[in-house]
Amino acid sequence: MAGTVTNLDAFKENHETKTVNTNRKLKVGIIGTGWIAGAHIENYKKMPDVELVAAADLIPGKAEKFMKDWGYPDAHIYLSGHEMLEKEPDLDAVSICTYNRQHAPCAIDALEHGVNVLLEKPFTVTIEEAVEVMKAEKKSGKILSIGFQPRFNPNMQMIKKIIESGELGKVYYIQTGGGRRHGIPTPFGTSFIEEETAGIGALADIGCYSLDMCLNAIGYPKPLTVSGFKTDYFGKNPSYWTNDGKPANYADLFGVDDFAGGFIRLEGGVMLDFRISWAMHMDTAGDTLILGTKGGMRIPSTECWNGSIGGPLKIYHDVGGTQVEYEIPMKQNTKEGEFFHKIRSFLDAIKNGGTAPVPSSQIVYNQAIIDGLVKSSNLRREIKIKIPEL
Ligand SMILES: NC(=O)c1ccc[n+]([C@@H]2O[C@H](COP(=O)([O-])OP(=O)(O)OC[C@H]3O[C@@H](n4cnc5c(N)ncnc54)[C@H](O)[C@@H]3O)[C@@H](O)[C@H]2O)c1
Repeated sequence: MAGTVTNLDAFKENHETKTVNTNRKLKVGIIGTGWIAGAHIENYKKMPDVELVAAADLIPGKAEKFMKDWGYPDAHIYLSGHEMLEKEPDLDAVSICTYNRQHAPCAIDALEHGVNVLLEKPFTVTIEEAVEVMKAEKKSGKILSIGFQPRFNPNMQMIKKIIESGELGKVYYIQTGGGRRHGIPTPFGTSFIEEETAGIGALADIGCYSLDMCLNAIGYPKPLTVSGFKTDYFGKNPSYWTNDGKPANYADLFGVDDFAGGFIRLEGGVMLDFRISWAMHMDTAGDTLILGTKGGMRIPSTECWNGSIGGPLKIYHDVGGTQVEYEIPMKQNTKEGEFFHKIRSFLDAIKNGGTAPVPSSQIVYNQAIIDGLVKSSNLRREIKIKIPEL
């Protein structure tokens, strides 16, 4: 199809990474020292082969306080990711923990400086940005891994294993999404709700997780068309905020979606019926349902929908003409937790010359759906999903 990435496998094949000397510690920097940077540093701290050398934040004093609080008073402190990359030529890797709008510029900058990148989700704001990051990745020969820690949760991994086992037959329909009744995130300010910092709301923040759960399980088929819509009825309502004890002007600052949904056609004859919410007048927007020709799977939703599973997976079958259903017992998480493994797998790929644990060649399809849904919603009609040439 003209104007699309036609061969992502070629991208992977040509994309060579180099091993680093494993006898020394990996030098790591953190770009953006807000909320999620805490989860990164907490886990880096547990890794004896990591030296946390630098941190950057646009807000004066923020990175310095962050590093001091985590026990790194001697870390080098910078006022932007760019300044850090210019002045720290020996960095092996950075965690990019900025708000969404700064994902692409910081990732491109780091890759152009020859630094491996662990980039927080969502990949980017637009599909055009995602492709620019992938171009920089390919040119650099460095690793770019996208921060989807649910990939390392044993129950999430079970979903993929069940589908790959053929137990459901051919998957033809997926209902996914879910979300919160009252949960527009403003934990430390308004970076999730302002257009200039977040760019997209619930759709990218938590929508990207449920898309990844399902698309990864079925092998990330290419999205073809989307009919989407999005709304902002709660975020734009001053009483939503005052009821929460927050300033009424958050309604003026609110510049993203708080609810989004869409129908997406995927290559291979799969229909994806998706909805996601930060706020709605309903207790749940539903469980994830995966329908196949031989069986169906129900994945219970959670109140928060941040990439976790609300209870045991349920499988539905016909056996000898009788309808049966059974539960897959929940697996215990690893003792280190999924966030540790998201970082560890990235570092191991750097050390061993491996490939990205959560590769851009998959997540570009996740981003294409999000981007297509925004464009379709703005145009108020179904559109073809177009991914710019790499
Ligand atoms: N994986 C997860 O579980 C998870 C959880 C929460 C947030 N996130 C993601 O992490 C990202 C950050 O979220 P947050 O809650 O920490 O946001 P935040 O607003 O608390 O922190 C972001 C920080 O980045 C800084 N920043 C922005 N651009 C910068 C630049 N160019 N150089 C240096 N610093 C820069 C800001 O000043 C701010 O302090 C978001 O994209 C979000 O989607 C992921």
